[in-house]
Amino acid sequence: MLQPLFQKVAFIGLGLIGSSLARVIKQQHLAVEVVASTRSKQTLADAKALGLIDTGFSQAIDAVQGADLVVLALPVRATQQVLETIKPYLSKNVILTDVGSTKGNVVAAAAAVFPEGFPEGFVPGHPIAGAEHTGVHAGRADLFADHKVILTPLDSSAPWAVEKLTQLWQAARAEVICMDVQKHDEVLAHTSHLPHLMAFNLVEQLASRQDNYDIFRYAAGGFRDFSRIAASDPEMWHDIFFANKTAILNAVDGFEAQLKSLRQLIETDDSHALMGMLGHAQAARQHFNHMLAKKPLMEKNKVTQQFNILPGSHRFNGKFTIPGDKSVSHRSIMFGAIAEGTTQVSGFLEGEDALATLQAFRDMGVSIEGPKNGQVTIHGVGMHGLKAPVSALYMGNSGTSMRLLSGMLSAQQFDSVMTGDASLTKRPMERVAKPLRLMGAQIQTTGERGTPPVSMTGQQQLKGIHYDLPMASAQVKSGILLAALWAEGETSVTEPEPTRDHTERMLRAFGYEVKTEGNRISLQGGGKLTATHIQVPSDISSAAFFMVGAAICENADVTLEAVGINPTRTGIIEILKQMGADLTVENERIAGGEPIADIRIRGSRTLKGIHIPEDQVPLAIDEFPALFIAAACAEGQTILTGAAELRVKESDRIQVMADGLQTMGIQCTPTDDGIIIEGKGQANDWSDIFTGGEIESHHDHRIAMSFSMAGLRSSAPITIYGTETVATSFPTFTQLTTQAGFSIEVEENQ
Ligand code: S3P
Repeated sequence: MLQPLFQKVAFIGLGLIGSSLARVIKQQHLAVEVVASTRSKQTLADAKALGLIDTGFSQAIDAVQGADLVVLALPVRATQQVLETIKPYLSKNVILTDVGSTKGNVVAAAAAVFPEGFPEGFVPGHPIAGAEHTGVHAGRADLFADHKVILTPLDSSAPWAVEKLTQLWQAARAEVICMDVQKHDEVLAHTSHLPHLMAFNLVEQLASRQDNYDIFRYAAGGFRDFSRIAASDPEMWHDIFFANKTAILNAVDGFEAQLKSLRQLIETDDSHALMGMLGHAQAARQHFNHMLAKKPLMEKNKVTQQFNILPGSHRFNGKFTIPGDKSVSHRSIMFGAIAEGTTQVSGFLEGEDALATLQAFRDMGVSIEGPKNGQVTIHGVGMHGLKAPVSALYMGNSGTSMRLLSGMLSAQQFDSVMTGDASLTKRPMERVAKPLRLMGAQIQTTGERGTPPVSMTGQQQLKGIHYDLPMASAQVKSGILLAALWAEGETSVTEPEPTRDHTERMLRAFGYEVKTEGNRISLQGGGKLTATHIQVPSDISSAAFFMVGAAICENADVTLEAVGINPTRTGIIEILKQMGADLTVENERIAGGEPIADIRIRGSRTLKGIHIPEDQVPLAIDEFPALFIAAACAEGQTILTGAAELRVKESDRIQVMADGLQTMGIQCTPTDDGIIIEGKGQANDWSDIFTGGEIESHHDHRIAMSFSMAGLRSSAPITIYGTETVATSFPTFTQLTTQAGFSIEVEENQ
C-alpha cells in the first residue's frame, strides 16, 4: 500500500470546507490519524460518528500536538488568536495552511504571531468551492472536484510543503493554482467580492424604496439571477469586505468609473458607443466561458459532437445559399477596424473563426455592432487607433486570424499575445514570424516547432522588405502585407504560385493602392484606409461539399447561389470539370468587388480519376478533403502531388483523410506531398462505394463535412467524431443537407 501523505492531520474548525477535506483524507487514507478541535462538542461528536475524525478536542492546543498538517478551517478573523494559542505546540516541520477566502489579512495575522519569521511549512490556501449549506453534515468528499484551489506560497514557504499540499488538493480532484497573496486578493475582489457587494447593494436599493412591495412582486428573472448571491451569509460577507478592504475599494472605484461612463452614454444618446459597449460586454461574457473551457467560441456546454449518417436512399436536390466566405469575412473586420469611418458588412459569416477575429478587435477597443443576419457595422479607429488588449487575444481554431494579426500586431505601439485552442496551438507560426522579423518586428513563437502562443512587442518601426515566399500561402502573404501598411517604404512579396488575393482586392476596395505584377505583390507603407461597404460572397470552400455531394449522387441537381468565384479560389470547379462532373457556372456577376456566380451541379455521370494539375493546388487548397471523396467515387486512379501544405492545416489532412478512406474500404496511398486514391466508381453504375465505419475527424471541420458526403454512397452507417468544429466555417451545414433531402443526425456528447 502507498505511504499516507501525512501522519496526523489536525483541523481547527470543521465546517463545510474543513469537513469536506476531512472526508477526502479519510476516504483515500491520506493520513494515519485525523483529529479536530471545534468549540461545539456536538460537531466533534457528529464528526466522529460520521467517521471523519479519530479524536475530537475542545482545545486547539491539544489537537495540533504532533500533527504534520494543521488546517485552519475557521472564520478568517479568528486566525491571529488561534495562531497565538497554538504556536508553542506546533511541530517543527508542520505544514500550516488555511482555507480562508482572503489572504492578505491571514498573512498579516501570521506576521504578528511569528515576528521572528514564518515557519517554512506555512502556505496559505483558498479552495474556491462552497455550497449554500454549512456545517459538518453539509460537507461532501466531491466538494472540490473540478474546482480551483489557490495556494499563495510566501518567500519563506518550503517547496516540499507546497508540493505536499498540492498533492492533497489534487487528491480532492481540485485544480491547484499558485498565486501571490496580493494578486489573489485583487482577483477575488473583482470576481467574487465586487459581485456580492453589488448584489447586496441592488437589493438594498430596491428594498429601501417606498414601493418595494410592488417592485419585488413584479421582479422578473433578471432581478432573481442578479440578486441570488445577496442571500449569502451577512456575517461572512461583513468580514470579507473588511478583510480585503484595499482591493475591494479599488474594485468599487473601477465599478463607479465604468458606471459613470455608461450613464454618460445614455445621457448623451450616444447610440454607437452604447451599442459598442454592450456588444463588447456580451461577447466578452461568452468569450470568457469558452476561453476558460478551452472550447470553440460559439459552443455552448457541449464538449464534442458526432454525426451519424444512415445508409438508404438519399436525395440531394435544391437551391441553396451557402454562408459567407471565411477569408473575406475575416478581412472585412480587420480592414474595417483600421479604416477611417464606418464600414458596413453584409453576408458576414457568423462562424466561430470569423467571430474570433471580431472579438479580437473588440478587445482592442473597436466598436462593432452585430453580427445580426450577416450584417456587421464597424466603427473604424484609423491606422493608429487600436488599443492594447487587457489580456491575451484568443483566436480559437482560426489560423487565418492568427497569421494575419501577427502582421498587424507587430506594427502596433503596444505589446500583445495571441493564443488558440488545442488544434491551433499545434500549427506552425514561424512561417509568418520569420519575414516579420526581417521587417524589424519583435515577435516570438513558442517551443521548438514555433507554435502559438505568439507574442509581439510593440513600438518597433518596421521597414519594407522584398520577400520570396517559400510556400504558396495566402495567410503568410497577407500577414506581411498587413505589417507593410505601417512599414517604411515599399514591401513586396513574390509567391511561388498565385494564392487567394482577397487581401489585395479588399485593400483596394478600402482605397489603398496595391500593385500586382505577375506573382509579385507590393505596396507602400504609411497610407490610410477609407471605410466602405463590403458584400461577402458565399464561400466556395463550403459550397465545395455540396458540389461534391451532388456530383457523386445519382439524379442530384443542386444550385448554389451567389458563390464567390474569385479566380484564385476556383480550383474545385476546374478539377471537378476535369473529372467529368456535370457542372455549370451561371449568371456571373460582380458583387462588392468580388466575382460571383450561381453554380449548378448534377449527378448525371460517373466521375473519372485524374492527375490533378499542380498549378490548381493553391487554388483548391481547402477543397481537397471533399475532392478525395469525389476521387473515391470516380472511375480509376486520382493522383495528387505538390500539396504538402495539406499536412499543416487544422489537421494533417493527407493522413487523416487516408485513414478515413481506408476505414471505409477505399484503397489509397498517402505520400509526402499528396495521395493516390484508387477510385471504386464504374461508368453508369451508382451503387454504393463506401463500406461505412467510424471516422475520426480530429476536430477538423473540413474532414467532418467531407466524410458526411460519403454518406450519400455508403452501404452501412457512418459515424464521424469531433464534428463540433463544423461551426467554425459552416454553421448551417446539417440544416442545409437536410433541406437537400440528406439527413445527418447530430449527437452531442456530454
Ligand atoms: C486562407 C488561406 C489558406 C486557407 C485558409 C484561409 C486565407 O491558408 O487554407 O483556410 O484566408 O488567407 P494558407 O494561406 O496557409 O494556405
